[in-house]
Amino acid sequence: MSGSNLSLLLHLYYCLCCLSFGNAFDTITSSTPINDSQALVSNNGVFRLGFFSLSSSTDHRYVGIWYNNRGVLEESVIWIANRNKPLKDDSGVFMVSDDGNLVVSDGQNQTLWSSNVRNPRGVNVSAQILDTGNLVLKANGNTVWESFWEPLNVFVPMMRLSTNVRTGEKVELTSWKSSSDPSTGSFTSGLQPLAIPENFVWNNTKPYWRSGPWNGHSFTGIPNMNSFVLEGLSLVNDNQGTFYLTLAFFNSSYLSYLYLDPQGISRQRIWDDEKGNWTTYDSPAETECALYGKCGAFGICNSQKPSICSCMKGFKPNNIDEWNSGNWTNGCTRINQLRCHRLNNTDSEPDDNEYGFLKLERIKVPDFAEWSEHLENECKNRCLNNCSCIAYAFDAAIGCMSWSKDLIDIQKFSYGGLDLYIRLPRSELDKKNITVAIIITVVIGTTIIIVVSLIFLLRWMNKDRDRTGRRVYVKFEELAMFEDNGKETKLHQLPLFKFEELATATIDFNPSNKLGQGGFGPVYMGKLLDGKEIAVKRLSSVSGQGFEEFANEVLVISELQHRNLVRLLGCCIEREEKMLVYEYMPNKSLDAFLFDSTKRKLLDWKNRFNIIKGISRGLLYLHQDSRLRIIHSDLKASNILLDEEMNPKISDFGMARIFGGNENQANTGRIVGTYGYMAPEYVLRGHFSEKSDVFSYGVLLLEIISGRRNTSFYNNEHFFNLLGYAWKLWIEDNILALADTELVSKQCCHQEILRCIHVGLLCVQEHANYRPSMSMVISMLNSEIIDLLSPTQPAFTAALHEESLPNNKWSINDVTITNIEGR
Ligand SMILES: *[C@@H]1O[C@H](CO)[C@@H](O)[C@H](O)[C@H]1NC(C)=O
Ligand SMILES: *[C@@H]1O[C@H](CO)[C@@H](O)[C@H](O)[C@H]1NC(C)=O
Ligand SMILES: *[C@@H]1O[C@H](CO)[C@@H](O)[C@H](O)[C@H]1NC(C)=O
Ligand SMILES: *[C@@H]1O[C@H](CO)[C@@H](O)[C@H](O)[C@H]1NC(C)=O
Ligand SMILES: *[C@@H]1O[C@H](CO)[C@@H](O)[C@H](O)[C@H]1NC(C)=O
Ligand SMILES: *[C@@H]1O[C@H](CO)[C@@H](O)[C@H](O)[C@H]1NC(C)=O
Ligand SMILES: *[C@@H]1O[C@H](CO)[C@@H](O)[C@H](O)[C@H]1NC(C)=O
Ligand SMILES: *[C@@H]1O[C@H](CO)[C@@H](O)[C@H](O)[C@H]1NC(C)=O
Ligand SMILES: *[C@@H]1O[C@H](CO)[C@@H](O)[C@H](O)[C@H]1NC(C)=O
Repeated sequence: MSGSNLSLLLHLYYCLCCLSFGNAFDTITSSTPINDSQALVSNNGVFRLGFFSLSSSTDHRYVGIWYNNRGVLEESVIWIANRNKPLKDDSGVFMVSDDGNLVVSDGQNQTLWSSNVRNPRGVNVSAQILDTGNLVLKANGNTVWESFWEPLNVFVPMMRLSTNVRTGEKVELTSWKSSSDPSTGSFTSGLQPLAIPENFVWNNTKPYWRSGPWNGHSFTGIPNMNSFVLEGLSLVNDNQGTFYLTLAFFNSSYLSYLYLDPQGISRQRIWDDEKGNWTTYDSPAETECALYGKCGAFGICNSQKPSICSCMKGFKPNNIDEWNSGNWTNGCTRINQLRCHRLNNTDSEPDDNEYGFLKLERIKVPDFAEWSEHLENECKNRCLNNCSCIAYAFDAAIGCMSWSKDLIDIQKFSYGGLDLYIRLPRSELDKKNITVAIIITVVIGTTIIIVVSLIFLLRWMNKDRDRTGRRVYVKFEELAMFEDNGKETKLHQLPLFKFEELATATIDFNPSNKLGQGGFGPVYMGKLLDGKEIAVKRLSSVSGQGFEEFANEVLVISELQHRNLVRLLGCCIEREEKMLVYEYMPNKSLDAFLFDSTKRKLLDWKNRFNIIKGISRGLLYLHQDSRLRIIHSDLKASNILLDEEMNPKISDFGMARIFGGNENQANTGRIVGTYGYMAPEYVLRGHFSEKSDVFSYGVLLLEIISGRRNTSFYNNEHFFNLLGYAWKLWIEDNILALADTELVSKQCCHQEILRCIHVGLLCVQEHANYRPSMSMVISMLNSEIIDLLSPTQPAFTAALHEESLPNNKWSINDVTITNIEGR
């Protein structure tokens, strides 16, 4: 206790010294080294750099960085310079040496650690501890070294774990030797630049754990990832050969980090203000099943089973005695060889009927996936037609994965994961399925009979009631259609409205009650007998179209609850009528405000930013947080409704897609959407994903800021849409001109507006992979991610005159960014 008080005093003294010399106390230079009793503190006071000992070995002195006044050093230290060469006494110095390096040297002038960079002598060198906990060495203003480049075992927000596939350079975490000894342990954690990047932990050089492929917002092999981490984690391909993993929390005052413990397990610690201590969270990687290759090749690990390892169907243990004694490392082998393998001719065309795929659900897919940009059906056929392909998996966000080597490190989850399809000879596939097939046939047969008789019964009842002029019943064949889709639905819990009830509420669908025209029919305002206001969407009965959309909307939205999604109150299926009943939104839709020259004035920046953020939260919920993963597919201004407080609610789920499982979900033969909002990959190839929603969101965002429709540039000779216009302004470094003059004249929030436009441009980039995920978008809007990448040219701006662009556009952009972000 007295020790720490003393050092505090000394620190204070030191600070005063520094001040008197005109130096910041977060920086050291060649003339201001620090000794054992001195320290640096970052500007925000969160991190401290200095000398310390751990409670277990007080005679070992280290130079490092830790969270200032946050629990014991064992838990708060994030970086150590001389982890392998501790000082033996308090004679150490941390300084900028003559050769321009940061060094730790002892009383005998022996260098124990050096940053080891080559600096020209005599340049102006200084090292500063930043608010992120990063120690940055600068020579003449250029960064030459960072402590984030040589991390300890701790991964803090804003740090980047990276791998450069061209140079092989890596930034990795390295575990401590033991919980009391910070010297280099045997475990490292970093990114493995596979076809689809993954996070790996290695024991020395052997893989010890892997995360499973990254799907754009999480690792598919970690089903129960902490949502805090999930929100902030992103894996970025900078397209210069570097992949990196980085973490950013919505609220930067939230103290939390991930670390690799001495046993090779990644864990998370969160600072608990109330307890005044760190809370350590259990890791998903802790089960025995998480160990790399626990069950060997073609073995599946399931921690729910008494004997965790089993061979896949069609496989048997390589060594039955070893296997039964619980040594599974040798794995499994095929019972019947695949024929094309027997022939040794890996490229021969196999007989289509000879093979099939066995579907394994909720799987951590094996290591060594190969990747291709195929749609689900092509993915399957491509695998089927190539003898060396032994398994495939498809994920809408990742694409097509296939395997041609031994399948290793497969885990079965009780939720999450991906579906893996294993190639097996028909004979294997059919073996046990005969009885199952019989059962299925019987069940289907019976169901059909029951459904058909029900339909006849109900038809007959309907007729009866119709003639007697009494109440008309719902036709249940439509309901049956929902259910044989195989999708679960809460339809039965969804209130059914009577036709008369809705007709009365809307005064017989009076044109004066019409609110607007949705994609598949008009929407009316109505008032129920109890006074409750509703909006009724009536599917046009004439076209006969739209039932699919209706069913889809009911399926999707009855599952969802979020304050930025419109709420479905019920539906009505009667006679030829299909109607959806929603909560009523008094301020109608966003387009009615945004594109109306007088009403637009009512939308100040606060409103617009609130709308932008609300839409992003609604979308994030659809993409990632709801039980289903949903792509909206038709996001546009007229589908954003506004409640009495101008809070946005996303509506119209007629074209939304539920992801996961079902085929054809990442591809559609029928391109439906709204011109100007559809992403290029969707228009051109029918391919959609979360990133195509992000594109529409970006268009919407730019529309909200500019108050102009994307498509309002028809006759302009220079750019044929808003995106082209925005890009031109961006290149000319005049992007604020995009914003509605109403907003700009207020002078209030130019930084925020610029940031929003920047985010918008990132969302409308041509290449889907460059576009940020919605969680990234939210972090960027909230300024949790400070350094935004430069956007590349948006899609659909080809009409832009290239020759009018300045040549050095990138450097201009970089300048713009730093200007925007400098706070
Ligand atoms: C560290 O430097 C300060 C100021 O130069 C000095 O007062 C103090 O005695 C030094 N401490 C050690 C342990 O050398
Ligand atoms: C260490 O080096 C400094 C300057 O280079 C010198 O003044 C000092 O005497 C040296 N100390 C020892 C113990 O060699
Ligand atoms: C050295 O760099 C610092 C900040 O980078 C600057 O304030 C200082 O003026 C520079 N000194 C010289 C001699 O260039
Ligand atoms: C890590 O690898 C070493 C050999 O390189 C081995 O002795 C040790 O048991 C391994 N640790 C674990 C936890 O598997
Ligand atoms: C961020 O977290 C701090 C402390 O946990 C809290 O006081 C603050 O209100 C939070 N800020 C926001 C914007 O949520
Ligand atoms: C904080 O937790 C660590 C271990 O997790 C414990 O050693 C320490 O005593 C705790 N500190 C306080 C103030 O509770
Ligand atoms: C398991 O089997 C492998 C290969 O047969 C052998 O090398 C290893 O020592 C065995 N492990 C144990 C724990 O028996
Ligand atoms: C099949 O390949 C193996 C090694 O790849 C080889 O030893 C064997 O002779 C080949 N068999 C035939 C029938 O070509
Ligand atoms: C079959 O798959 C292997 C491994 O993925 C690949 O190398 C080979 O080119 C493929 N053959 C054909 C005909 O596509």
